[in-house]
Amino acid sequence: MGGDGIGPEVVDAALRVLEVAARSVGLRLDIDEDLLGGAAWDAHGTFIRVETLASARASDALLVGAVGGPKWDHIVVDGGPEEQDGLMKLRHELQVFACLRHARAHDALLDRTAFKAEVIRGADIMLMRELCGGAMFSRTRGIDDAGERGRRAYDLNEYTEAEIERFARVGFEVARRRRGRVLSVDKSNVLVAGKLWREVVDRIGKTEFADIELTHFFTDNAAYQLCCRPADFDVILADNLFGDLLSDQSGAIAGSLGMLPSACLAELPAGGRSQRPAIYEPVHGSAPDIAGQGIANPIGAILSAAMLLEFSAGEVECARRVDAAVDAALAAGSLTRDLGGEHTTREMTDAVIREFRDA
Ligand code: NAD
Ligand code: IPM
Ligand code: MN
Repeated sequence: MGGDGIGPEVVDAALRVLEVAARSVGLRLDIDEDLLGGAAWDAHGTFIRVETLASARASDALLVGAVGGPKWDHIVVDGGPEEQDGLMKLRHELQVFACLRHARAHDALLDRTAFKAEVIRGADIMLMRELCGGAMFSRTRGIDDAGERGRRAYDLNEYTEAEIERFARVGFEVARRRRGRVLSVDKSNVLVAGKLWREVVDRIGKTEFADIELTHFFTDNAAYQLCCRPADFDVILADNLFGDLLSDQSGAIAGSLGMLPSACLAELPAGGRSQRPAIYEPVHGSAPDIAGQGIANPIGAILSAAMLLEFSAGEVECARRVDAAVDAALAAGSLTRDLGGEHTTREMTDAVIREFRDA
């Protein structure tokens, strides 16, 4: 599902790489295409059709571009937050609560980011965002009349222990497969929901993952430290709202928001492939400012396809070869405009495919 704006452009690119990679390991792909978000609204008067949801539930994996844009952002649909946007609906229906957003400082781009090279060298962060709860999915929301104070609008920021526990467990397990360090962020100094977040993450860490080094920061400090010393972080656990903010911020380390992939999982497979449908999407949005020009950076979407190979197909080694092909293409000087280069989306994708084949 390409979705809107640059979404279809980057999903096309990711599918081309996915097909080449799958063929190299004899993996058969059975791909359906469908509309999502504004594109679905224009064609069917809904952000996501019931047929699309049924097909999503029956799939192993969904590759999604991005949804939304000025043409549709004002539309309000009856029902909860998940009804306002086809992607929110998919996340909710599939209960993909564990979102892994990967940000790396790429060696070839060290001099092309907003940071000094020595500050970001070696940075490799798995920003984990809780994706099915918190203020963004709260049903306690609304806008009403507050008399002489004007209107009052609210979105309750709520988390249950069960929601925090299931998310924390996946986070610690991901850390176990990486460098064994977790930073959990919250605003427990002011928010009650933050206090519960910290208490539950701390308990799961101490009782079930004593081998993992756990630190807690207030989110504002975490945002600051992430700028000053990004290479010191491994796995970061954040709620839905803070995770949204910190993942775009970590895009700056990678040189562009267009570089970041994500895997949105309903379970972390113990090894092999996830038994439940998962969503793979670049972290960026529909970028209306550059849509239709063929210049979008496809790497976030391509690396999302690599995460699909890893978590939904169990092809970990093939996934790493896609990552390596991306690095090799960057090292050879293939760069889209957001990185200061001149490659089109297609040329960048061709370069990645060439490196994959050559390796
Ligand atoms: P955005 O991520 O679309 O764009 C932010 C900036 O980054 C823009 O300058 C854009 O040109 C640039 N950018 C993003 N992806 C890029 C890429 N692949 N290559 C080159 N440059 C890239 O965020 P926004 O402008 O705040 O939002 C635009 C629309 O997208 C809104 O309707 C928003 O709701 C939606 N959105 C959707 C998703 C999603 O579907 N996952 C995520 C974020 C925003
Ligand atoms: C993201 C986006 C989405 C979010 C929007 C489009 C619903 O910003 O995936 O990061 O806030 O989750
Ligand atoms: Mn976002």
